[in-house]
Amino acid sequence: MIKTKENISIQYQPAGQFEDTRFEKIHNVVFSNSDDASICVAHEIASLIKSKQVNDELCVLGLATGSSPIRVYEELVRMHREEGLSFTNVVSFNLDEYYPMVKQSVHSYYYFMHQHLFDHIDINPDNVNIPNGTVLADELHQYCIDYDLKIKEYGGLDFQLLGIGRTGHIGFNEPGSHYNSGTRSITLDHITRVDAAPSFLGIDNVPKKAITMGIGTVKKAKRIVLLGWGANKASILKNTIEGEITSEVPATYLQEHSNTTFVLNEEAAKELTRIKTPWLVGPCLWDEELSSKAIIWLCGLTNKSILRLTDKDYNDNGMSNLLAEGGSAYDLNINMFNKLQHTITGWPGGKPNADDISRPERATPKRKRVIIFSPHPDDDVISMGGTFDRLVEQGHDVHVAYQTSGNIAVSDHEALKFAEVLKDINPNDFYIDAIIKSINTKKSDTEDSLEVRKIKGLIRKRESLAATRFVGVQDENIHFLNLPFYETGTVKKNPVNQEDIDIVAQLIADIKPHQIYAAGDLADPHGTHKVCLDAIFAALENLKHNDYMDDCWVWLYRGAWHEWDIHQIEMAVPMSPDQVLKKRKAIFYHQSQKDGVMFQGNDTREFWVRAEERNNDTAQKYNVLGLADYAALEAFKRYHF
Ligand code: F6R
Repeated sequence: MIKTKENISIQYQPAGQFEDTRFEKIHNVVFSNSDDASICVAHEIASLIKSKQVNDELCVLGLATGSSPIRVYEELVRMHREEGLSFTNVVSFNLDEYYPMVKQSVHSYYYFMHQHLFDHIDINPDNVNIPNGTVLADELHQYCIDYDLKIKEYGGLDFQLLGIGRTGHIGFNEPGSHYNSGTRSITLDHITRVDAAPSFLGIDNVPKKAITMGIGTVKKAKRIVLLGWGANKASILKNTIEGEITSEVPATYLQEHSNTTFVLNEEAAKELTRIKTPWLVGPCLWDEELSSKAIIWLCGLTNKSILRLTDKDYNDNGMSNLLAEGGSAYDLNINMFNKLQHTITGWPGGKPNADDISRPERATPKRKRVIIFSPHPDDDVISMGGTFDRLVEQGHDVHVAYQTSGNIAVSDHEALKFAEVLKDINPNDFYIDAIIKSINTKKSDTEDSLEVRKIKGLIRKRESLAATRFVGVQDENIHFLNLPFYETGTVKKNPVNQEDIDIVAQLIADIKPHQIYAAGDLADPHGTHKVCLDAIFAALENLKHNDYMDDCWVWLYRGAWHEWDIHQIEMAVPMSPDQVLKKRKAIFYHQSQKDGVMFQGNDTREFWVRAEERNNDTAQKYNVLGLADYAALEAFKRYHF
């Protein structure tokens, strides 16, 4: 069992006082990151396997696929290699498989399980059970009954590992699934297919059906651990843990299982009442961040601006001890108002010759060297186009570093268009012939050839240069880092490695910036932003002992995928209506990412629309809180290294 007290990072509650609150109907533990959490879960599985070995018993595991359990499997493989953990007594049953689906396909769960686990451990292949996606349609019903019977013959599942879909599915038990359902074929929900679309290179390639273990099958497991990572899962996890049991959210059936633990990271847990609004749950340790969060929440609840909040508002809404500590609503309100007011600046690089005590940035040096790190070749203008423009206008030495080539997000027809133009100009170029042929003969689940990747990367490079010239930066200040982790040719990227870190560190060492802007936009569905940020953080760690780093401040932006909460913002840069339009035009230069992009994520808006609406929304929120009425605000949070 996971030892909660030692391992969980409990926000706002001292260790030892952790209890599921009256809001929560499923035991859950929250880790600061999914790596530690996964390792902990892997260790629970390993202990179970070993304890069964001691008694000469089989260990029956129910296993899941998807992004959530990958790190757990990595740790199990590591334990097998380095610590001799043996799987010879393990019998496994996988939750599901697409239907129809051949084992050899890179999209099959059969392939996934062998790639991530079975090929690297000593499990007996005869003990591996994965629903067979090639069973004939008229044999499927009996096949599913037999799958359940086989689990039963082994004495049931000792341990079931689960992920959760945004629909609330476990396995592929989509909304509407019965609490008693057995293994069966099922039609996938549209949202599930949207989520799977990137790895299938488009929703049209995602199968419509699957075979899944039933809710009844899963619920008979003696122990269940569900993994939940990332902001995308936060709202469904709240509904599952705190909501009523309903077939609309099949994971809520787990409320009836007495030995289930949800293992979450902070992002995934952020909607839980005890984390989002802990003052509604019990006494809090009020630090500055929590007070700000609570006061802004109180404004929303009471529909009041900050300076209109009263003692009664605080007392009536679980914040009486904050009021007691803060003295009076008047003092708390003024502090909060000033804090927010001081985040606003039209001088993101600092205002020269001005008193900077309550400004977000330093006045000196007057002209700063700045690096804007952009994970993909358009995040700079999408997420901070207005601030970028101001930094250039205000005379700073602005560099942009595009961390990845962004090649996989260019569609084949876009690449073909450019290749054919080149062919028209130079009909005898064999290299271009090879590109055209490679695109025209590509199958839906194959990787792009190197030549095709190259032309796609170059399209994005030229779009970026067009945009940065429009903002007014010289080409020599634009750096295309083409970090190696990204160059897999598929949606799945490698983790950050030393080469990536070294490339980023070298650029920082060359420029010796006073300001670094980086994407802290961790809801990016492909994880590229996270890896890019990891590379920057690791580079900063390596460089921090150099004197020039004492003058380097790091600002994190968001915008392409989500936005900072108001209480997190430490610098808010206003934009006039004209600047909003200029930012829009800069985004338009990224034509390959317009009018229906390859990887839309779960936000169906175009990137320029998202950016405008998010910036507008931040401005409105400031205004409703009682601050000035701007057309748009770009928001930043400082990172201290
Ligand atoms: C996978 C499975 C699914 C996934 C769920 C979450 O075998 O049955 O229920 O666990 O869709 O997927 P990820 O982990 O990719 O977010």
